Amino acid sequence: MQENTSLPITEDRFMKTFKYFKSNKPKPSLKDVITAEKCSDHQVINITANTVIEDPRAELLGLKNLREWQVFTLKKHPGLLFIRNPFTALGQRYWIRKCLEEYPKKPNKLNIDIEITLEDWWRECFRNGECEKQLQKKLRWTTLGYHHNWDTKVYTESNKSKFPEDLAELSDVLAKYLGYSDFTAEAAIVNYYHMNSTLSAHTDHSEVNLKAPLFSFSFGQSAIFLIGGRDKSVEPSALLINSGDIVVMSKEARLCYHAVPKILPAVDSPWDVLDTEIIMPDSKNINFKYISQSEDIMLSMKENIDNKWHRFKDYIKESRINMNVRQVLNENQTSILMQ
Ligand code: SIN
Repeated sequence: MQENTSLPITEDRFMKTFKYFKSNKPKPSLKDVITAEKCSDHQVINITANTVIEDPRAELLGLKNLREWQVFTLKKHPGLLFIRNPFTALGQRYWIRKCLEEYPKKPNKLNIDIEITLEDWWRECFRNGECEKQLQKKLRWTTLGYHHNWDTKVYTESNKSKFPEDLAELSDVLAKYLGYSDFTAEAAIVNYYHMNSTLSAHTDHSEVNLKAPLFSFSFGQSAIFLIGGRDKSVEPSALLINSGDIVVMSKEARLCYHAVPKILPAVDSPWDVLDTEIIMPDSKNINFKYISQSEDIMLSMKENIDNKWHRFKDYIKESRINMNVRQVLNENQTSILMQ
């Protein structure tokens, strides 16, 4: 995934900006960091559609009514879309919990596999009742579907597990909303960040299909996200990403360099703002494309309202989680071998 070019340091504007925001002493100024609030600014355009077709799946997946979504693009980075937190508070809890309790389980791959193979990382963290902080901190990524191979950067049929139905459904709702009727979620990397974590400059180019967009969902603490150009000489723009925000890398932006130089404490914790009375969505008459057992979602949502939530809350108050979802294959391609 990571591609290093050896530009003279003066021409590597991406690295210069990365180092600026990464620095703790002196602390970077955030005055030029783009936020959705600055949408009247010359840098950001609000491209929210006026007419939106409702999707009955949205509520059960923890999403707000599609008519409430707000979509922006950056003038300097066509193809880079930013959707300002379209999740409900319960939706935020649902996805945070999934990323911690469900996805870092076998047969999915974890960064800690090289050190220790755990069937169920989250359960192991609480094996003795108390939270084992050291083990909890070790998790940096989990891969789903076609597993990203960090050495070869090549996806293979032999290194693949079932893609989670709920995440496929969430991606499908988003894809349809954006007009991508043929998008299929086939691979994802879930990144886990602590307050001092960074992610260096890279492009995502391992997928056979580079025309399909890449969807990036973030929860928990905030981050500065840098988006540059096709090479590192292009000065990147810095974007503030808060819990629930979605970044879409499509078209010209799909192969651009990006990075996370800094995690920042979240000003708000939208996962905490539950309405006093939650009415559970009615899943009976909803047609899902991928989900076979909507009862599992309902159960998990209910558990997030009551006593089961506190362990996830403790984790997320000092961490950030990012799930980035890709389509790997071309349309009508059923296997990576069929190129
Ligand atoms: C990535 O590019 O892999 C993750 C970006 C993010 O954490 O926002």
